[in-house]
Amino acid sequence: MAELTDFWALALRTHWGLEAKLSRLDGEYDLNFLVRATNGQDYVLKVMRPGCEAQLIDLQVEALKHIALEAPGLPFPAVHPDLNGAVLPEIPDQNEQPRLVWLLECLPGQCYAKAAPKSDELILKLGRVLGATDRALEGFSHEGLHRPNFKWDLTQAGWVTDKLDAVADPTRRALLSEISADFQAISDRLAGLPKQAIHNDANDYNILVEGELGQRQTISGLIDLGDMCAAPRICDLAIAGAYIVLDHPKPEQALTALVRGYHAANRLRADEVDLIWPLLRMRLAVSVVNSTLMAAENPNDPYVTISQAPAWRFLENDAVNGGLMSARLRAACGLPVTDGAERIHAYLSEHRGQFAEMFEQDLNEVPMGSLSVENSTWPQNPFHMPLDEAARVGEEFGEGLWLGYYNEPRLIYAEPAFRKGPWKASDRRTVHLAVDVFAPAGTVLHAPMSGRVEAVENRDAHLDYGGVVILQHETPEGDPFYTLYGHLDPEVCDRLKPGDPVAQGAAFARLGDASQNGGWAPHVHFQLALTTDGMQNDWPGVGDPDEMELWHAVCPNPAALLNLPDEKVFYRPTDKHAILQGRHDHFGGNLSLTYDDPVMLVRGWKHHLFDEWGRPYLDAYNNVPHVGHAHPRIQAVAADQLKRMNSNTRYLHPAQTAFADKVLSKLPDQFEVCFFVNSGTEANELALRLARAHTGAKGIVTPDHGYHGNTNAAVAISAYKFNKPGGIGQADWVELVEVADDYRGSFKRDDAERANKFADLVDPAIAALQAKGHGLAGFIAETFPSVGGQIIPPKGYLPAVYEKIRAAGGVCIADEVQTGLGRLGEYYFGFEHQGALPDIVVMGKPIGNGHPLGVLVTTKAIAESFDNGIEFFSTFGGSTLSCRIGKEVLDIVDDEGLQDNARIMGASLMDGLRQIDSEFACVGDVRGMGLFVGVELINPDGSESTEICKYVKNRMRDHRILIGSEGPKDNILKIRPPLTIEAEDIDMILWTLRTVLSEVGDYTPAPVCDHEHHHAGCGCC
Ligand SMILES: Cc1ncc(COP(=O)(O)O)c(C=O)c1O
Repeated sequence: MAELTDFWALALRTHWGLEAKLSRLDGEYDLNFLVRATNGQDYVLKVMRPGCEAQLIDLQVEALKHIALEAPGLPFPAVHPDLNGAVLPEIPDQNEQPRLVWLLECLPGQCYAKAAPKSDELILKLGRVLGATDRALEGFSHEGLHRPNFKWDLTQAGWVTDKLDAVADPTRRALLSEISADFQAISDRLAGLPKQAIHNDANDYNILVEGELGQRQTISGLIDLGDMCAAPRICDLAIAGAYIVLDHPKPEQALTALVRGYHAANRLRADEVDLIWPLLRMRLAVSVVNSTLMAAENPNDPYVTISQAPAWRFLENDAVNGGLMSARLRAACGLPVTDGAERIHAYLSEHRGQFAEMFEQDLNEVPMGSLSVENSTWPQNPFHMPLDEAARVGEEFGEGLWLGYYNEPRLIYAEPAFRKGPWKASDRRTVHLAVDVFAPAGTVLHAPMSGRVEAVENRDAHLDYGGVVILQHETPEGDPFYTLYGHLDPEVCDRLKPGDPVAQGAAFARLGDASQNGGWAPHVHFQLALTTDGMQNDWPGVGDPDEMELWHAVCPNPAALLNLPDEKVFYRPTDKHAILQGRHDHFGGNLSLTYDDPVMLVRGWKHHLFDEWGRPYLDAYNNVPHVGHAHPRIQAVAADQLKRMNSNTRYLHPAQTAFADKVLSKLPDQFEVCFFVNSGTEANELALRLARAHTGAKGIVTPDHGYHGNTNAAVAISAYKFNKPGGIGQADWVELVEVADDYRGSFKRDDAERANKFADLVDPAIAALQAKGHGLAGFIAETFPSVGGQIIPPKGYLPAVYEKIRAAGGVCIADEVQTGLGRLGEYYFGFEHQGALPDIVVMGKPIGNGHPLGVLVTTKAIAESFDNGIEFFSTFGGSTLSCRIGKEVLDIVDDEGLQDNARIMGASLMDGLRQIDSEFACVGDVRGMGLFVGVELINPDGSESTEICKYVKNRMRDHRILIGSEGPKDNILKIRPPLTIEAEDIDMILWTLRTVLSEVGDYTPAPVCDHEHHHAGCGCC
């Protein structure tokens, strides 16, 4: 091998004047070398096999030269001529055999097959590159392009039909026959298209992708022109599409992005777009038949069969709706969705106002009623629509006529049938594709225009249509279109049958009641469709908000047929970008927003949230909605109290003592006194005052990277804030100690003495405060440091610290804002895990489940020290409403067994995460207790990986899971859901995290230049 590389290294020096190191690259017949030249450049040296077809090599060289001239920006490798100016010299090899040899630029990046994620944005860019390539190649001609009997020329793919017998499985053979027949059906149209030079093999190993983790990925190369031929350009796109869809989780979306990109660079016509799907499938048929034949020739090569698997998985995937593909791809190109679409739109617009009134009255004055995600709370549980709620939907809009919007996202489509994936937080179809007219059951419906019955059925399943009629209509030019009327009295099935004419204005049906119409409040769902391809009689009444381009084109706003202006019935959700702008205009810049692309959330239920389009998110981050978002008992208590009165602690109310009793029932007996305030911050402020009143001293010891709130004193004891760049710095009455982090800190898990060693660090801190004359008021710590990185201190740490603090006269404050109230599963409070007994316990966030509430509990002795004659008063703290809500939260934790749920769910989450830890090098540590969990992400050298953490957090959000990140280097994923989380949600988190982490691969951050130890390519010094 060394001989071979040495030989060609010498040839390279002789012919190209390049000194270089060579290494072999893959190549079936030819010799390919990666060339690392001493001039700092990389090349690929291609030594063609003896007797290769020179014309085909020349074709490639000439095509590359042509593209370089026509479109120099495209990512194709330059061909480097030898010292004599020859681009394809003939050089004798070791055996004196003449070889054609060429030297190409080596393009950066990895192959698309290995690139992740395969985002729409990346695929769109690929489409653009391919489109621009075909444009550049339009004027290229070469003898070698005409390749008779070339099996990879898609226009000649008919050869497959004669070889189907090679496929043993009859079902698969039948599928391939169907694909061949579809191909035959388009062969005339294909033959009518102009031919040009095309790349013809944009498969996922011929596409190079460049881009760091989470950065914009780009297409850095389109290589291997060895399969070039003359064919219609649409074949090039279909071939690329055939690889893009394989094993893509959203193949239709991926193909749409590819076609959209291609069209942006090289405008397609509708007749070409219609060929993409049959050609794509035919390319895959060619591929599987070819490899089946090869497998027969090489029975011992398992790779040949394995490589077929993705193509079969795709071809056999029923979830892809081929019937809708033309419409989808046309819509992506902004082309009319059917050939008659423009004429139909013109016809409907022209006749607006002249159609027969469906309800014998002008609907222009009829009010609209919104059932949108933002405006409506039907149903209360967005994952289940009970019969009695369905029958009452919209009752707030009265009993007379009212209209429901087109394009309105709704949560009333709650059942799993509307979900597009296995999880509750999977994407779901929410957007209404029709106009509803709500009217009393029995109201007669008149046909807006004449037509013929296309279908009439009784779909009597729960929440289906009940009676439903589809009419077919025609424009004067003969373009067919269709209208659907759902939720009818099924008696219509007895009167009408397919083919029956229906005259304009004819009373052809009437509205069903809830017992007849699928269970809904009486209304008609009135939908228009320009084609029924891919839908037949089973039209989706609602669409995925991310597919509205398609659905607006296939099922446009039917307002014209109701003699209404489009705008009246077209729903527009709040524009997230306008709200973002408002944030920028009217809020401080340091009011931060999570995610590169922020989410707007308008509804919630338990541990799920919904954005303005009804997209669901699994909330695995927010600890404030402790007992779940929108808990009905919290709603009821709040509403009930607000109906009565809401005042402050200057008056007696049983709710105050009831809440105090409940809180104290969860704590050791020494805690006898409660203070109610508005927030965790206020509780910590008060804790400082109590400690100082009790000790007469000022100094505070606290662990580094802690957070206790946003006021002056709370920030002063929060290193996470005061030590940040721009922070106020450390006050001289505060001493920091190292966090008891036994993963990354000074004392590791293998050190049995680590708890005491960490605790010993408070000694010098106490001494320093005393030396400065502040004395020691106390020690405050988040029991398990959260912003510090979801850290569980070693058992025994806090008792050892407390002992030292008490010995020095200080008060021990446990900030349980993050850890309290059952989140830890095993323990109601974190200090119980430690076996420690604090003097003051601070609670916040979850205790109000979203209502602003903080609680401090302490001993009688400390409360008495504070009671020095000056009134303590917090206007809202301990209000009647707050006390009732706080008590309700604690009652719900008990009544619903949520602490136990946290223990069980937390344990299964931790099990799964430990497994993930063992699979992925970038996971450094997994730690947690109950539903207080951290996943530490690291670089290959073990250092904190802020980049990977940011990437994972954003990608989890793309997959509809909200999690956070923490730690001094922001490299720890924080998983901290409401305590209501269920087993399937834990599965979703684990499955998604695994998917996202596999995208990270072996990411290594670029070395940071310290300007002393320069590294290759740092470019900064
Ligand atoms: C541990 C801890 N203490 C105190 C606070 C402050 O609570 P609030 O934001 O309710 O004032 C927080 C808030 O994140 C916290 O995490």
